[in-house]
Amino acid sequence: MFPIRLTAHLDDERTMVVPIATSRSLSHVEGEVAAETAALAEGIGPAEVRLLPRPLRRPEKVVLVGVGSGAGGWRAAGAAVSRAVAGDEPLCITLGDLPADAVRDLAEGLWLGGYRYRDAREEPRTAGVDLQINAIRPYAESLARAEVTARATWLARDLTNAPSSLKNPDWLAEEIVGVSAKRAGVTVRVRGGAELERFGGLRAVGGGSVHRPCLVSLTWQPSTARRHVALVGKGITFDSGGISIKTRPGMKIMKIDMAGAAAAAAATLAAADLDLPVRVTAVLPLAENAIGADAYRPGDVITHYDGSTSESTNSDAEGRLVLADALGYCVAELDPDVIIDLATLTGSQTVALGTRTAALFSHDDELAKALAEAGRRAGEQMWRLPLPDDYREYLRSDIADRHSSPALGAGAVVAALYLRDFLGEKADRWAHIDMAAPAWADDSEMELTKGATGWGVRTLVRYLESLSA
Ligand code: BES
Ligand code: MN
Ligand code: ZN
Repeated sequence: MFPIRLTAHLDDERTMVVPIATSRSLSHVEGEVAAETAALAEGIGPAEVRLLPRPLRRPEKVVLVGVGSGAGGWRAAGAAVSRAVAGDEPLCITLGDLPADAVRDLAEGLWLGGYRYRDAREEPRTAGVDLQINAIRPYAESLARAEVTARATWLARDLTNAPSSLKNPDWLAEEIVGVSAKRAGVTVRVRGGAELERFGGLRAVGGGSVHRPCLVSLTWQPSTARRHVALVGKGITFDSGGISIKTRPGMKIMKIDMAGAAAAAAATLAAADLDLPVRVTAVLPLAENAIGADAYRPGDVITHYDGSTSESTNSDAEGRLVLADALGYCVAELDPDVIIDLATLTGSQTVALGTRTAALFSHDDELAKALAEAGRRAGEQMWRLPLPDDYREYLRSDIADRHSSPALGAGAVVAALYLRDFLGEKADRWAHIDMAAPAWADDSEMELTKGATGWGVRTLVRYLESLSA
């Protein structure tokens, strides 16, 4: 990630960037630039960029960016600057006196909008970026938090954008082990083979692939921890649908089906980087849902970690089966205060809420409120959907404790009710986030870059921060 330096002095050798927020004075811009800027700023819209060339004068170039007055304005403005200027052009963004949150949003936008996917073969993607923020207040804390948040989001995007020709369960586990190394207080364990005996859902889903499934548990455990949050992330490294094979368009982006696991892992590492006084355990069931001689079949009955059984008649409803084991494991072995699972779980979620909004399910009003508020501040939207008790009967099976994919229509709701079965007494301290829609962006827009969005990292980081406040 490229560095952003704070500076007390405007460097007029650099291109000067002036954010224009509605009803905010430009008193921090001095000299003849001030009048030229004010004239050009007239009517500028949010995230709009305007250029003021000043040949033979200093600064030689001024870039104006609209902030507007709405939520997310500073983040979108930061992203717009990242896109508008050449990577090697030295910039000095002049801010004056701003709330700390605005500076954090602006910096997150700069870094998130400046993201490009690269794999190991490419050159470092950010060489040459040279950026200063000129401000009169000490914003080091805002900048540090923005950097940790953006770095974690970049990590989640990198892992999710990685093609499945590279990304199998072992590869993903190794990547997570790699980034966790040398971080004090962070431990990681990878279970595979016979250690997965009790994880019947994970073994069934992963059975069709030559790449064997595994379970990653990643822990941040500071001595100062007062609470323990478990983050469970769906980690399907490719979802072909299995024997209940997907259609061609339905399969196209299914390398993203581990975006929940990526977000959970990245947020856990961010908690460590910020030294947050909360214990976080990410539990990540990783598998490839492939078609093979040992693939699980429609009609199979699966025994989960908690000993209960599921009848599966559609091998494309694989996410809930691996999550069932992971949730059962969390409840039985970790006894956390809060359990949050994140999953690209259903196509139904995208039908219900469109491209940018995730679905949030919880019986716990306080937790739902805290997550929604964290999302609002982070710039990630969620909308709460119900967990109607009287729909539980649709999950009934004649041959198992439940059916994994009844045809009720409300697919996202049914999937959430299915998961709830594995929470036992923790059902009241649990939230499920179906992020099928916002995990991917068809085009670059605002702080999102085309491809994997890293959705959820920012919300989780803000949520974990709120627990430490
Ligand atoms: N990974 C998919 C859900 C998905 C769809 C994620 C689109 C991202 C974008 C999931 O495993 C799936 O296939 N769900 C099925 C469930 C059904 C078979 C009960 C679905 O939603 O169609
Ligand atoms: Mn599927
Ligand atoms: Zn899936």
